[in-house]
Parts: sequence; structure tokens; C-alpha cells
Amino acid sequence: MSFLRYALPALAAVGSASAACSVQGTTTIQNAGDAGALATCTTFTGSVAIATGTTDNIAINNVRAITGDLVAEDVPGLTQLSGDSLTSIGGAFTLQGVQILADLSFPRLVIVDTISWGGLPNLQSLDFTTGIQNATSVDIENTGLQSLDGVNLGSVNTFTVVNNGALQTVSLNVTEISGALDISYNGDNTAASFPNLNTALNMTFRSISNLSIPRLETVNGSFGVFESQTIQYINAPNLTEVEGTVSIINNEALANISFPSLTTIGGGFQIQKNPALDGSLVFPELMAVAGALDFYGNFTDVQMPALSDVKGAFNIQTSGDVTDDCTHFNSIKGRNNVIKGPFACISRTNDPKGAGSASGTSSGSGAQKTGAAGHLEFSHGLTGAAGVLAAILAL
Ligand SMILES: *[C@@H]1O[C@H](CO)[C@@H](O)[C@H](O)[C@H]1NC(C)=O
Ligand SMILES: *[C@@H]1O[C@H](CO)[C@@H](O)[C@H](O)[C@H]1NC(C)=O
Ligand SMILES: *[C@@H]1O[C@H](CO)[C@@H](O)[C@H](O)[C@H]1NC(C)=O
Ligand SMILES: *[C@@H]1O[C@H](CO)[C@@H](O)[C@H](O)[C@H]1NC(C)=O
Ligand SMILES: *[C@@H]1O[C@H](CO)[C@@H](O)[C@H](O)[C@H]1NC(C)=O
Ligand SMILES: *[C@@H]1O[C@H](CO)[C@@H](O)[C@H](O)[C@H]1NC(C)=O
Ligand SMILES: *[C@@H]1O[C@H](CO)[C@@H](O)[C@H](O)[C@H]1NC(C)=O
Ligand SMILES: *[C@@H]1O[C@H](CO)[C@@H](O)[C@H](O)[C@H]1NC(C)=O
Repeated sequence: MSFLRYALPALAAVGSASAACSVQGTTTIQNAGDAGALATCTTFTGSVAIATGTTDNIAINNVRAITGDLVAEDVPGLTQLSGDSLTSIGGAFTLQGVQILADLSFPRLVIVDTISWGGLPNLQSLDFTTGIQNATSVDIENTGLQSLDGVNLGSVNTFTVVNNGALQTVSLNVTEISGALDISYNGDNTAASFPNLNTALNMTFRSISNLSIPRLETVNGSFGVFESQTIQYINAPNLTEVEGTVSIINNEALANISFPSLTTIGGGFQIQKNPALDGSLVFPELMAVAGALDFYGNFTDVQMPALSDVKGAFNIQTSGDVTDDCTHFNSIKGRNNVIKGPFACISRTNDPKGAGSASGTSSGSGAQKTGAAGHLEFSHGLTGAAGVLAAILAL
């Protein structure tokens, strides 16, 4: 299918000394000879595709620029792809389903429009000496890459790095990511580092071991850290505003969350099922949460002294003793008060659950009981002695 897409017009028959340096559409390389024929082109105008049946090593030497795409899609026999002089690809650099590709060498490549790589299990490293500095969109999935050395972006719009099981570090030295950022399931020990990132649109992290975002100030969408087995702390010293939802869910070893500057959350605020998070949750500057605030787990203290507006539901359930905190939050709930939505604050429960779970049904997180004003909330599964001490607070 992909072969057909890129099949026309094909290069001149075997034996031609040189190729046209300009095509409408795509030229398709079948073998080393076809690739060699491009060497007379300093700039190749058009796109270059590697044919599905190609088994030769492909070296596109001497060519400095390809104005269109460079594509190898479903090329199961290709092991080596290189270009000794290529500095720019005006379109997409697409490598999909090139199972035995092990050697990718573009020592001078600096600019591409998009990177779309997937299904490259044998590609362990990039031989990109200068390194790609500009790309609008990068999507790297299901590769054997052990590092992204060679992708040293100064700017990027969307950045997706998913399912690269051998990857240990993802680091980006950009100040802004205007599209989605997703670093997920790259093995359990991927450290994610964004030393200069100031603003991003939507940030999603799964199975990361560490997160460094020292300069991050605003996230115009959502921010989430999920299913990370080894991350121990999340510290966003300069994060002030998240316009979407903040989610920190299912992180096995997470012991500390520090958002000392966070003032405003435009969506919900979810801290859930982080079993090792058994200390204090302190958000000293947090003023407004436009969605639901839904914390449940094993923490022993929740402090949000600046809180002045929670529009959605408010749910705190923990195995820890937060009786005093519940008393405080109970005193600021109500339609014309700080906490406007359905309220539950349950201390010392052995089965902490999400918003909506406290009014008698035992449904999990997500269910929000609205319009339930006046109902008496109670908790289930309290340990005997703790049951008496549990803060059972109703509207
Ligand atoms: C490459 O990115 C830098 C910012 O890092 C920008 O100043 C420059 O204009 C970009 N170059 C191209 C050709 O897109
Ligand atoms: C990282 O980015 C900053 C500011 O954009 C720049 O000053 C610095 O040289 C960059 N460092 C590297 C290693 O690219
Ligand atoms: C987020 O919004 C702010 C203010 O509108 C803007 O300055 C910033 O560039 C935006 N960030 C992104 C990543 O779009
Ligand atoms: C882990 O993240 C913190 C910031 O939260 C940073 O200071 C530290 O250098 C990072 N460690 C590693 C090994 O990346
Ligand atoms: C944090 O933000 C403040 C105020 O915008 C700025 O002065 C400071 O340099 C930032 N810190 C970092 C590590 O970027
Ligand atoms: C934004 O992030 C959230 C989690 O933080 C994720 O569920 C959602 O799919 C992301 N949206 C986009 C468009 O990337
Ligand atoms: C959590 O991290 C913050 C900032 O890194 C630190 O000041 C605080 O002492 C830590 N708290 C705990 C309980 O480890
Ligand atoms: C509380 O801690 C226990 C023991 O570590 C764990 O099994 C349980 O899942 C934790 N509960 C939540 C909601 O994180």
C-alpha cells in the first residue's frame, strides 16, 4: 500500500548514470544503484521513498537537501540508511515498519519538518553527529533507541516518545512546546528533563523515573503523571498556572509533590492512588480550581491555605488522620463559600475512593453526585476504632 503510494514516478531504469534532480511527487529507490544516481543532486526537489522490497544498503550521498519527504515505510529488508551530506528534509522524515534497520546515519542533518518513526525494534542509536535542531513535530514509537542523542531540538511543536523500551533519558532544551508532549511507557527508568521549558500545551508522562521541569511556569492544557513505578518526587518550583487538569495518579513510589507556586488550575486537580504518598500535601499558593478537586490515598495532611474558589466537587479520602483538615474544609464549603460543589472529606478510611463514592454507592472515581445537597455522607470500610474518629461531614 505504502509502496504504491510512493511508486510514481520511479527512477529511470537501472544503468542510468544520473537521476533527475527534480520530480513532481516522489521518486522511489529500489536499490543501491538508484540511491547512488541521486549523488549528482545537491538539492533534490521532491520526495524520496525507499521501495518495500529494498534489501540493499541505501546511501543517499552528496545530496544536501530534499525539499519533500524521505520515507521508508514497510521495508522489512532494509538494514542501513544514510546520507553523508544531507542537512535538511523539507517534509516528513518517515521510517515506519523497517524491522531490521540498525544503522541510521545522517551526520549533518539539522532541519526536518516532522519525524515520524515507528516499528524500528533494531534501531538502537542514531548516528547524527550535528543533530537535528529544528522540527515541528516529533513522534518516535516502538524503536530500540537507547538514547535520543542526535535529536537536539531548539524548537518543536509536538513531541511524542512512546513505547521505546530501552530509552533511559528524554531531554529537550526548548523553552516552549506549543502542541502535545507525551513521554510514555519507555521502560520504567526514563528520566524526563526539560531544563529550559517555560510553557507547554499538554504534558503527559507515564512510567517515568524522574521529572525535571525547573522553569515551567504555565501549561495551557493538562499536566499528568501516571503509572510511574519509580518516580519519587514531582517538583515544579515555578509552575503557576495549569489551564486544564492536573493529574497525579497511580505512581507506586511517589513520596512528595511540590508545587510551591501553583496558583490556578483551570480543570480538575487529581491526586489519586499514589500509595507511598503518605506525608503532607501542601499547596501554599493554590487559590482556584475550576473543576473537581479529588484526592484519595494515604496522605496525612492537606494544606491549601490560599484556597478561595473550588467550583467542582471536593473529595478528600485517606487512610491518614486528616480530621483537623476536614474540619477546616467543612467550614469553607457551600454555594456561596469557597468550596461550591459536592463535598466529602473522610479521614482514616481503609478504602479511600474518588469523588462521588462517599454518598452510599461504592462507585469508583469519576462519578460525581451533583444536586445531592443535604445528603449525609458516610464512609464505608472504616477500621473499628477509626470509625468513630472519622470525619463524616455533610453539606
Ligand atoms: C530553527 O529553530 C530556531 C529556534 O531554535 C529558529 O530561530 C530558526 O529560525 C529555525 N530555523 C529554521 C530553518 O526553521
Ligand atoms: C539550551 O537552550 C538555551 C536557551 O534556549 C541555550 O542558551 C543553550 O545554549 C542551550 N543548550 C544546549 C546544550 O543546546
Ligand atoms: C500559553 O498561553 C500563554 C498566554 O496566553 C502564552 O503566552 C503561551 O505562549 C501559551 N503557551 C503555549 C505552549 O501555547
Ligand atoms: C530529577 O529531577 C530533579 C527535579 O525534580 C532534578 O533536580 C534532578 O537533577 C533529576 N535527576 C536526574 C537523575 O535526572
Ligand atoms: C522562576 O520564575 C521567576 C519569576 O518569573 C524567575 O525570576 C526565575 O528565574 C524562575 N526560575 C527558574 C529556575 O527559571
Ligand atoms: C492531554 O493530557 C491528558 C493527560 O494529562 C491526556 O489524557 C490527553 O490525551 C492529552 N491530550 C492531548 C491532545 O494530547
Ligand atoms: C518535598 O519536596 C520539597 C521540595 O523538593 C521539600 O522542600 C520538602 O521537604 C519535601 N517534603 C518531604 C516530606 O520530603
Ligand atoms: C495505601 O497504602 C496501602 C499500603 O501501601 C496500599 O495498599 C493502598 O493501595 C494505598 N491506598 C491508596 C488509595 O493509595
